[in-house]
Amino acid sequence: MTDTRLPPNVHVSHHPLVAHKLSLLRDQATEPKKFRELVRELSWLLGYEAMADLALRPVEIQTPLEVTEGSRLEPKVGLIPVLRAGLGMVDAMLELMPAAEVWHIGLYRDERTLQPVEYYNKLPDAATVQICLILDPMLATGGSAAATVDILKAWGAARIKQVSLIAAPEGIATLSAAHPDVEIHVGAVDRQLNDRGYIQPGLGDAGDRQFGTFSGPSPEAE
Ligand code: PRP
Ligand code: URA
Repeated sequence: MTDTRLPPNVHVSHHPLVAHKLSLLRDQATEPKKFRELVRELSWLLGYEAMADLALRPVEIQTPLEVTEGSRLEPKVGLIPVLRAGLGMVDAMLELMPAAEVWHIGLYRDERTLQPVEYYNKLPDAATVQICLILDPMLATGGSAAATVDILKAWGAARIKQVSLIAAPEGIATLSAAHPDVEIHVGAVDRQLNDRGYIQPGLGDAGDRQFGTFSGPSPEAE
């Protein structure tokens, strides 16, 4: 569904299952095992919505009763999980699209500047897919997403969508301004970023909550 207060490239899910599962995900009492399950379930739901406009090509199929016309997905799809947190979204997307290719990009945010730092890139030499889905649970400042799109466009990606569980208005504005052609599919748009670049109310650090690594600084403002 399109929200008229947001740029036209932004699609916020209004599905009750998404709202229900996002509330469980945000709850600080939700432990990593349950958190990972919810990330997977939400990815499935948001991926389903994000894929609603994929082109089909007609194919002839034989049912047990007769020959009829069926459909096959036309574009080859590439899944681009942004490490680490995007990893938790891959399995659900592969359930939806088993033939999708998976290309990993590793970025972390510098804690001081909040700028993305690339540390891993497993893209092949040239783009081999027609549509790329960037998978990252959090769209906060938008720096990581914009950098990922830069990388994909330099690689030759034709059509790119970002799928995130939660976005901040700041991240949507940054990504939309840098790349207005990128469709953004999110489960919720939250209020704002805090002064450490965390989404409020948000869910904290999506990577730490999935992988149980809580040794770093707290997302709360000092
Ligand atoms: C998180 C998240 C995004 C990024 C979003 O990753 O998964 O990649 O922050 O923030 P931005 O929109 O301000 O760029 P993080 O840097 O915490 O790395 P991690 O997934 O390895 O924990
Ligand atoms: N990355 C996260 O994991 N959480 C935020 O709130 C912002 C960036």
